[in-house]
Amino acid sequence: MQDLEPVRARTLARIAAAGDEAAIEALRVAALGKKGEISLMMRGLGKMTPDERRQAGPRLNALKDEINAAIAARKAALGDAALAERLETEWLDVTLAPRPIAQGTIHPVSQVMEEVIAIFADLGFAVAEGPQIETDWYNFDALNISPEHPARQEMDTFYMARAEGDERPAHVLRTHTSPVQIRYMEEHGVPCRIIAPGRVYRCDYDQTHTPMFHQYEGLAIDREISMANLKWVLEEFCRAFFEVEGVELRFRASHFPFTEPSAEVDIRCSWAGGQLKIGEGDDWMEILGSGMVHPDVLEAVGVDPKVWQGFAFGMGIDRIAMLKYGIPDLRAFFDSDLRWLRHYGFAALDMPTLHGGLSA
Ligand code: DAH
Repeated sequence: MQDLEPVRARTLARIAAAGDEAAIEALRVAALGKKGEISLMMRGLGKMTPDERRQAGPRLNALKDEINAAIAARKAALGDAALAERLETEWLDVTLAPRPIAQGTIHPVSQVMEEVIAIFADLGFAVAEGPQIETDWYNFDALNISPEHPARQEMDTFYMARAEGDERPAHVLRTHTSPVQIRYMEEHGVPCRIIAPGRVYRCDYDQTHTPMFHQYEGLAIDREISMANLKWVLEEFCRAFFEVEGVELRFRASHFPFTEPSAEVDIRCSWAGGQLKIGEGDDWMEILGSGMVHPDVLEAVGVDPKVWQGFAFGMGIDRIAMLKYGIPDLRAFFDSDLRWLRHYGFAALDMPTLHGGLSA
């Protein structure tokens, strides 16, 4: 029988060089197909003598096996290469890009607003809002501040410009959040329990005054609300807000046109060593104005003061933020100085809650 080595070498070399499945299949047919080179040689076995067959048979079978194995190996190699190429071209980066270090913080005013809202929500107060540009009527008249009332002058009001001869109601930048009381009762009636945080404006500027600042208004109207309820609510608030058990409040008789009687409220504090401590010491710091809502105010929104009564109060948000977080100058609140914000700001994901801690 002929020497198989040249056939073997040639076939295996071609298989190894085959570039795709079709080329491999053509080589398989050429070698092992019905009329393939090896098949024809196998067919020749029948014409051999038994001795020759015994020699040639195993060699041909071995060659056939070897070619089949080479074909399988080449196919696998081509498959791997195709997969590798696909993985290379269809590559997708699913990792998160490195994020820049967070630069922003939550401003102390925003933080304190959230704290205030969390505390009052727990006491059953809803949050209300009103416009920052108000009419004279909402900002003053409805709150029992008549045009001649000295409070109009004291408030350093910003009036909106008006064309000469324009007879429409004058607009002002609201000087306090108290007009939200009026708007809320007009729209929702009574009974009600709300706080109304927001921006207010007065023409004033020094270490403790800026032309824009923040207040929140409290209002609770029902049939039997008294000064005692006001006192309890404010004490409850201060204890939660300043996170001090022994807060002490002092109610001082005062006067506001929209409340009768009226009281300003001071909180006991100490300035020992130049550091402010709430709830101890011999100093008092004023933190809010309050009182029982004046019957004229209820009447202005069509609520019968013989049936309904309640309390209102107004507190400076920036002020209590300064007290709680030891911030000395109000003007810095609105300078947008990143260094200041990094120092006094709060982490964005630390939402104040009563159970999780207000300022932890
Ligand atoms: N509106 C007052 C102010 O801005 C604060 C105030 C005092 C609000 C007494 C009230 C109140 O509701 O009862 O100075």
